[in-house]
Amino acid sequence: MTARRNDTDRPVFARIWMAAGPRLDREGFVEWRRRLLHGLSGRVLEIGAGHGLNFSHYGADVTEVVAVEPERHLRRMAEAAADSAPVPVTVRAGSAEDVPCAAGSMDAAVCSLVLCSVRDQRAALLEIHRVLKPGGELRFLEHVRAGNPAGALVQRALDATIWPLLVGGCHTSRATTDAIAAGGFEVASATHFRFPTTAVPLPTSPHVLGAARRVT
Ligand SMILES: C[S@@+](CC[C@H](N)C(=O)[O-])C[C@H]1O[C@@H](n2cnc3c(N)ncnc32)[C@H](O)[C@@H]1O
Repeated sequence: MTARRNDTDRPVFARIWMAAGPRLDREGFVEWRRRLLHGLSGRVLEIGAGHGLNFSHYGADVTEVVAVEPERHLRRMAEAAADSAPVPVTVRAGSAEDVPCAAGSMDAAVCSLVLCSVRDQRAALLEIHRVLKPGGELRFLEHVRAGNPAGALVQRALDATIWPLLVGGCHTSRATTDAIAAGGFEVASATHFRFPTTAVPLPTSPHVLGAARRVT
């Protein structure tokens, strides 16, 4: 099969995420996914959908999910998950920086555990802004920069060295809510929480669940 535009091939990361994602969900992350998607309606763009762990949680008011996933193995699994989703899901090759959707065509966009990994967060947010209708909603569930200086220092050191290489391009120290606010969105809510709640926090423990509106 010839590679499509925007294809990436990260079979090792794909395999790790196919095991780790469902395990995190079983440990309680699934509740945050449900809150992320609660109340959405109309056409929804999901960026970096992985193998489709969100699909089964979309509600009946969603008329279509367009799920963009650049990694070939995960995308193939997402296509299988789309078949049993409760709402119509179309899986497409593409990236956050180059979304295969028309301007102003989406009512909402969803990012879960993906703005940590995109190559260029600013470009990704510009693309999401482009494809959303005016007033459209961006829902996000992301691990983010630690609130305490020592934690943020450790995160920055990891990001500058081994972490992105080991974890599929992931960065632990991104101030994602600030980037969303700077990207033409009005942040309506941002709930900070730790997951998992281990005694010693992991570099990826600080999370945010939020919603923002596209402003012009
Ligand atoms: C940790 S997984 C999360 C998958 C899914 N969003 C979830 O919540 O289960 C990170 C995902 O981001 C995707 N990704 C990485 N870089 C991306 C980019 N530039 N544009 C879109 N997706 C990207 C990866 O292929 C992977 O599917």
